[in-house]
Amino acid sequence: MQTSLTPNLKPFHTFAISQTCSNVVEIHSIEQLIEIYQSLLEAKQAVLFLGKGSNVLFTDHFDGTVLLNRLMGIEVVEGEEHWQLHINGGEDWPTIVEWSIKQGYAGLENLALIPGCSGSAPIQNIGAYGVEFQDVCEYVDILCLDSWKVKRLSKLECKFGYRDSIFKHELYQKAIVVAVGLKLAKYWKPNIAYGPLKSLDESDVPVTAKEIFNRVCSIRMSKLPDPNRQGNAGSFFKNPMVERNKFEDLQAQYPDIVGYSSGDKVKLAAGWLIDQCGLKGHQVGGAMVHPQQALVIVNQGEATSKDVIELAAYVKQKVWEKYQVELEHEVRFIGSDGETNLTQILESRK
Ligand code: FAD
Ligand code: EPU
Repeated sequence: MQTSLTPNLKPFHTFAISQTCSNVVEIHSIEQLIEIYQSLLEAKQAVLFLGKGSNVLFTDHFDGTVLLNRLMGIEVVEGEEHWQLHINGGEDWPTIVEWSIKQGYAGLENLALIPGCSGSAPIQNIGAYGVEFQDVCEYVDILCLDSWKVKRLSKLECKFGYRDSIFKHELYQKAIVVAVGLKLAKYWKPNIAYGPLKSLDESDVPVTAKEIFNRVCSIRMSKLPDPNRQGNAGSFFKNPMVERNKFEDLQAQYPDIVGYSSGDKVKLAAGWLIDQCGLKGHQVGGAMVHPQQALVIVNQGEATSKDVIELAAYVKQKVWEKYQVELEHEVRFIGSDGETNLTQILESRK
């Protein structure tokens, strides 16, 4: 059954910016999803499939229907060496992580407290504290929007990368993630190589998954603003990948620059670049670069999407002027008829 909710999107995305749309429908089953999606396509209406809205910025009124992923259900299979978890896409990711630790299934602890639906996790291959979704993923089930059949993709077929997957490329707007399959080894090895987790190694007693979970939660709560109190969408920009020689040139000029080797490239800490431009606390209207974490833009209460766009453009320009490094936003921009981006918006104003 179709449930129409309020057409103001403010409660449905973590930036909590007031923006309207034509209709909002909760999706509880694949059959319902197919029926509604097909009828919207026939009516030539724009459709947006949304999880918890923790990685989006609505730049305008969305002239279409927003479908909210509420496909619920979990199945667990115990194998000899692994726990296999089949999780329907609408399940809340941080709740799943906490539940898995309580059940004694180790492996998800580094990915604690990342907001969003489980079905959204593969889209940008969520990652934190040295672990990415791809490290625990066995498969991803998708509804193909041409055949209307559910198909299973292996982890390899998902072509995961840093904040990247097949869902941003070949399968962009061609598939909806309806479930994910996780494979967690019973012979668990802690992953505590990432900076702030290293100190967990100091004790003689082996560290537990629960301890890592607790540490990750406390670091995140101290570093990142809580969207329930201050609207935001996590890191606004991705950490940019640059060629090694570019990194060495920058390092010669700025010896403290933070970069991590990633294949033959170097991933720069965008937060450091923005911070060194003196932009922490910089405001445009109600939008502000977070005073403690420069990679996050916050809504101080009454920010408009225009404020966030102006601020993002300013940050991008300042970083370019100082370092000649191009920042790309991680947050997905949704315009009046579908996805857009900062460059397109700035171009359209010329
Ligand atoms: P949404 O914002 O609802 O959707 C994101 C995009 O995916 C949209 O384009 C949407 O159309 C598309 N989409 C959603 N669901 C589906 C689906 N089932 N099938 C196809 N397309 C779909 N991310 C990290 O990687 N690491 C972090 O540490 C991290 N920390 C964060 C901290 C905070 C405070 C916040 C607010 C965000 C953070 N994020 C982080 C970003 C965010 O949590 C992730 O991107 C998350 O996976 C988004 O889930 P969602 O359900 O909210 O997706
Ligand atoms: N830094 C500064 N100033 C700042 C912010 C950061 O100098 O204002 C420096 C830090 O001191 C550190 C480096 O930049 O040396 C990296 O900072 P941090 O460890 O906080 O990580 P990040 O690069 O800011 C990334 C992810 C986060 C993820 C954390 C932990 C991206 C775009 N962001 O942030 O993911 O939680 O690492 O793994 O990759 C998200 O994607 O939304 C997100 C929050």
